[in-house]
Amino acid sequence: MIHILLIISSLFTFSAHAAVQDFCVADLLAPESPAGFACKPAANVTVDDFVSTGLRLAGATDNIIKAAVTPEFAAQFPGVNGLGISIARLDLAPGGVVPMHTHPGGSELLLVTQGFIKAGFISSANTVYVKTLQKGDIMVFPQGLLHFQVNAGGVASVAFASFSSATPGLQILDFALFANDLPSSLVETTTFLPDEVVKKLKAVLGGTG
Ligand SMILES: *[C@@H]1O[C@H](CO)[C@@H](O)[C@H](O)[C@H]1NC(C)=O
Repeated sequence: MIHILLIISSLFTFSAHAAVQDFCVADLLAPESPAGFACKPAANVTVDDFVSTGLRLAGATDNIIKAAVTPEFAAQFPGVNGLGISIARLDLAPGGVVPMHTHPGGSELLLVTQGFIKAGFISSANTVYVKTLQKGDIMVFPQGLLHFQVNAGGVASVAFASFSSATPGLQILDFALFANDLPSSLVETTTFLPDEVVKKLKAVLGGTG
């Protein structure tokens, strides 16, 4: 009996001292590291760190891609920092395109909530997986693989994408090739594209060199 009491009391002592760190709300003022943001002091954390109203409204689609991606990654939604999870809203006007891109840091699970979206990814084995999705359909895009979403119905379409990382990252293929100062000659050598095409796309996307 005494033994049991001792064990129980030591368990209580243990649980009082071995506090689990329940969360690590991002301190956005501190620098980000590969492991994520530093934690805000627990005393400074409020419920609003765990809530965001940022996905209520459609993003602006009056742009070159006729689409908007509204991320709620750790930088926008500090509560997800360290939890290996995040979300984004995708709005595609008729003709809208989310160009070929990857998320180097996480897999993506897309849920269509309005309209029709043709989505696909390309595996490392260079196999193409494409499907037209409608409201209620989901599709998963494995981490790091190139993928895209395009409006497939001629009506405004909406989807929500959750990620297996608080900081999945986003690298857009066309921007990587044509929206920076990578010299045109190197773009042409590494893509086999002709000079006029590279120069034209750099002009459209804001690249130089
Ligand atoms: C935490 O709150 C204290 C008191 O309001 C403030 O001085 C401090 O800057 C806050 N720290 C962070 C990292 O938000």
